[in-house]
Amino acid sequence: SAAEKGGYASFMLKEIAEQPKAVADTLLGRIDASGRLTLDEVRIPDAVLREADKVVVIACGTAFHAGLIAKYAIEHWTRIPCEVELASEFRYRDPILNRRTLVIAISQSGETMDTLMALRHAREQGAKVLAVCNTNGSTIPRESDAVLYTHAGPEVAVASTKAFLTQLVACYLLALYLGQVRGTKWGDEIHAVVRDLARIGDEVERVLETMEPVRALARSLADRNTVLFLGRHVGYPVALEGALKLKELAYMHAEGFAAGELKHGPIALIEEGLPVVVVVPSPRGRSVLHDKIVSNIQEIRARGARTIVIAEEGDEAVVPYADHLVRIPATPTLLQPLVATVPLQVFACELATARGNEVDQPRNLAKSVTVE
Ligand code: AGP
Repeated sequence: SAAEKGGYASFMLKEIAEQPKAVADTLLGRIDASGRLTLDEVRIPDAVLREADKVVVIACGTAFHAGLIAKYAIEHWTRIPCEVELASEFRYRDPILNRRTLVIAISQSGETMDTLMALRHAREQGAKVLAVCNTNGSTIPRESDAVLYTHAGPEVAVASTKAFLTQLVACYLLALYLGQVRGTKWGDEIHAVVRDLARIGDEVERVLETMEPVRALARSLADRNTVLFLGRHVGYPVALEGALKLKELAYMHAEGFAAGELKHGPIALIEEGLPVVVVVPSPRGRSVLHDKIVSNIQEIRARGARTIVIAEEGDEAVVPYADHLVRIPATPTLLQPLVATVPLQVFACELATARGNEVDQPRNLAKSVTVE
């Protein structure tokens, strides 16, 4: 009903708007006054976490994209090798796991059958499983060794939005916590990240306040057939997520690519007027990444692409090559997905609406996939 949607036209719009609070709620009570992480729910003993020699993330769909981003954070902050795999592939392989493997199962619903079967497969081989889940008491956390709940609140729209952002927050917290327990990283950098995380909800709010041009752009593309998404580093999974949103909501052909892979094939797809969304990493810090993507934007634009550039405030290098420029607040590279994903959600939602689609209940999809 209209009341349940809190005045919004759809649950999806409501849930997009709830993201600043969802992010803040997921951080609440998990960082103490001195900036240390207090994840009491992670009942896996410190000794086990210290001895873990591999992390494997299993998930499906949007939760898988959160896992891909988590890998960058886990490996950077803990130096533990991390693999990320689609649950539906993992369970039918012969994965190498043992007691020193920490498996992270990410699921909004906690009922996804593929993820559940993958976690059973992992536990049978002695791995410890930690669930990142949004639904209290659901099957996946019940069958795991421990659970870190995301506090997004109920997500009704089939397309995941606020659950994704909170999955990212939970994964960042977990990565920092592993670093803290293992003593690999506990210092200025972690303190700085914790500080940045604490204000990220406000940054998401600022992004939401500037979305009107993105909506107008989406409406102008309503009759297109294809949109491509490019990113590098953590911007690559963001590109995959942007494409997934567009597929499931707008029923358009949308694909995400690692920008560095363009020249290995996908650049052949570029033709006059093709909309290409590019997620640009911060020009500060790892500026090599930034320079690389600026040349990728030039390459596709020279071949006729209509470039939709998502770049940090103050990034002037991209201006000459952007047909449409979407500004996001400056954040550390690893945290950028929390702000960069939001315009892509708004874009897909508006484009779907302009095409006359029902955004909360896309055709052929179910909110939780309890079949294999
Ligand atoms: C997201 O927009 C999708 N509807 C879908 O990919 C979803 O993320 C996936 O099915 C996993 O669901 P879960 O998080 O409940 O396990």
